[in-house]
Amino acid sequence: MAKMDSVKQMNIDGETYTFLPIDVAVKYSDKIHSGFFVPLNESKRVRIEIDEGNLKEKLSTYKEKGLKNILFADEDYNLFLRAIKRGLTGFFFKEDENNKSLNMQQVLFLVRKSIIYVGLQESVADRGEENIDKFFHWIKGSPKLHPAFKNFLKENQEQFVINVFASYVGIALAEALNWPPHLGEKITQASLLGDILLTEKDYFAFIAANGDHSKWTENFRNHPINMSKILQKHHGQTISREVIRAVEQHQEFPDGTGYPQGLKGLSIDQLSAIIIIARTFTDALVASDFAYDNRYDFVNELLEDRFNYNNFKNPTKALYTIMGIPTNESGELIKE
Ligand SMILES: [Fe+2]
Repeated sequence: MAKMDSVKQMNIDGETYTFLPIDVAVKYSDKIHSGFFVPLNESKRVRIEIDEGNLKEKLSTYKEKGLKNILFADEDYNLFLRAIKRGLTGFFFKEDENNKSLNMQQVLFLVRKSIIYVGLQESVADRGEENIDKFFHWIKGSPKLHPAFKNFLKENQEQFVINVFASYVGIALAEALNWPPHLGEKITQASLLGDILLTEKDYFAFIAANGDHSKWTENFRNHPINMSKILQKHHGQTISREVIRAVEQHQEFPDGTGYPQGLKGLSIDQLSAIIIIARTFTDALVASDFAYDNRYDFVNELLEDRFNYNNFKNPTKALYTIMGIPTNESGELIKE
């Protein structure tokens, strides 16, 4: 089957140009740090340089005139991609760290710092790192997965950092529920395996789609299932059924708005539920300014009415616990 590719590109005079929808260009205008092209017709384009003028206004004017896309040449496209990913992960990276790629020790240090910053116990990072050690040892022995994993680290380091952070949150949740340590290892495995099939291009299409799921790449949409199939086929002996299911379900959401299966409430497994809560919390941290003093509202707004299913009761209660927010026996908030 031909792979659908939602990143639109065109070739002019032997050069490849990548389309960015005008709405997205306006939305992320502060992340455009290079010149770009405006297509005039099938074979002509004009380059617009970034000058002192207000880019957002300029792009909005183009939009009003009916322009549908701007075009990036390869180098400009890579600049934009880096800027936007840094922007989305500003929680972990500072702008001045642009273009820098971290070694594994630096990644782990960064996540350890972030864990303490949000108010979790530092000991969670100790357990997380132990699990990651074991995971690295295991994946190195997988000729099927190791190349994909290395590529993911290279192309999507920001996402890797996010996944490591989410794995620590998951471990903290499991510990708050008194789950045994081997389940923490499973959380690490599922968190770190879930996304490794995704390329930089898949993430770009996701951003360019601006919420329109039909414009995602097939690989983006199906990555949870594709990965679970690979694990089943090649690692059914060493990776547990629970982990494979958690990989398969990690992008689902109990109200049915997740993907790729749109699973609802009770059809989501317990380990998956922990990972979904950890990921939702992490994504919210990345997307917003978090202040520890405001954690009550932050967590409350995040969880409110979206996880009212029995299998999410314990994970949501655990999130309040690890964030030091008091609840009663049934996990309801005690108003301060
Ligand atoms: Fe994912």
